[in-house]
Amino acid sequence: MAGLAALGAALLATGVAWAVSPAAPDPQAATNAAAADQTVVDAGRGLFTANCAACHGPAGQGGSGGPSLVGAGAASADFYLRTGRMPLSAPGQRVVRQPAHFDDAEIQALVAYVASLGSGPAIPQVSSGGELHQGWQLFQANCAACHNATGAGNAIGGGYVAVGLGNADPTTIGEATIIGPGAMPAFAFDDQSLADIAAYIRFLQDAPTPGGAPIGQVGPVAEGFIGVAIGLPLLILVSLLAARRGKPEEQNP
Ligand code: HEC
Ligand code: HEC
Repeated sequence: MAGLAALGAALLATGVAWAVSPAAPDPQAATNAAAADQTVVDAGRGLFTANCAACHGPAGQGGSGGPSLVGAGAASADFYLRTGRMPLSAPGQRVVRQPAHFDDAEIQALVAYVASLGSGPAIPQVSSGGELHQGWQLFQANCAACHNATGAGNAIGGGYVAVGLGNADPTTIGEATIIGPGAMPAFAFDDQSLADIAAYIRFLQDAPTPGGAPIGQVGPVAEGFIGVAIGLPLLILVSLLAARRGKPEEQNP
């Protein structure tokens, strides 16, 4: 909690707008160009046949091992491939974030192929002009319940884990909000709100303790428990005191 207060204070004091390096490559332009290039689509089809068709069907129409990718769009393919969530090694395997299985050129080809299957969301271009305070409010309202106020991640029940956001770059953040992977809902933020949220997540990533107030580094679940363990007795104490204070007044109106 002290960490959170410090964070809030830092936010108010600085009002920083996060600035990304202007030399950063533009993944959307690259992907659009790739989509237009038939040879890239063909290369993607080859990779797809070898690595994906067993589950998603020979033409991506879906199969017993995986859903149809028609209309999944470049955003979804890019998200699942760059975060290493795809390919699964066996049907029914849990989808987890891990290092990418393909290099950038292969991912571009696979993304172009999946995008060619049917119109779907494009890879979003997340501006670096996000406003930190606004991003903080949007994050608290829409993301913190699952990803933790500090972005450290959390178990959200039903066996699902809202992963920590320490490795999420702005494009990945944009893609996740558009497609809503796994148990995460999809959001429809305007460009500015998305930039604000990305700026705030970047701020969390750069904070000295990425977990915010980790309480001895034991993690978010224990943190929540400590909140209950300390907060609940405190609440009971306060209500007892309040009740005692009320009594004499009732007796002597
Ligand atoms: C062993 C089976 C398997 C293989 C191989 C596999 N997938 Fe998947 N894929 C799945 C399953 C199951 C899901 C649904 C996961 C979920 O619900 O979270 C999925 C989901 C996806 C999605 C999200 C679909 C959506 O609606 O947004 C994309 C994109 C995707 N896979 C792409 C690929 C690509 C590209 C490859 C090859 C490099 C691949 N997958 C290989 C089983 C597989
Ligand atoms: C209902 C819970 C829930 C909410 C609310 C939610 N998420 Fe998620 N989020 C998840 C889950 C679960 C995953 C992991 C999905 C998977 O691996 O299949 C995830 C994954 C992500 C990822 C991928 C991270 C990575 O590095 O692979 C990003 C980025 C993300 N969420 C951002 C957000 C943002 C931004 C918001 C608020 C606008 C948000 N999430 C709201 C549950 C949630």
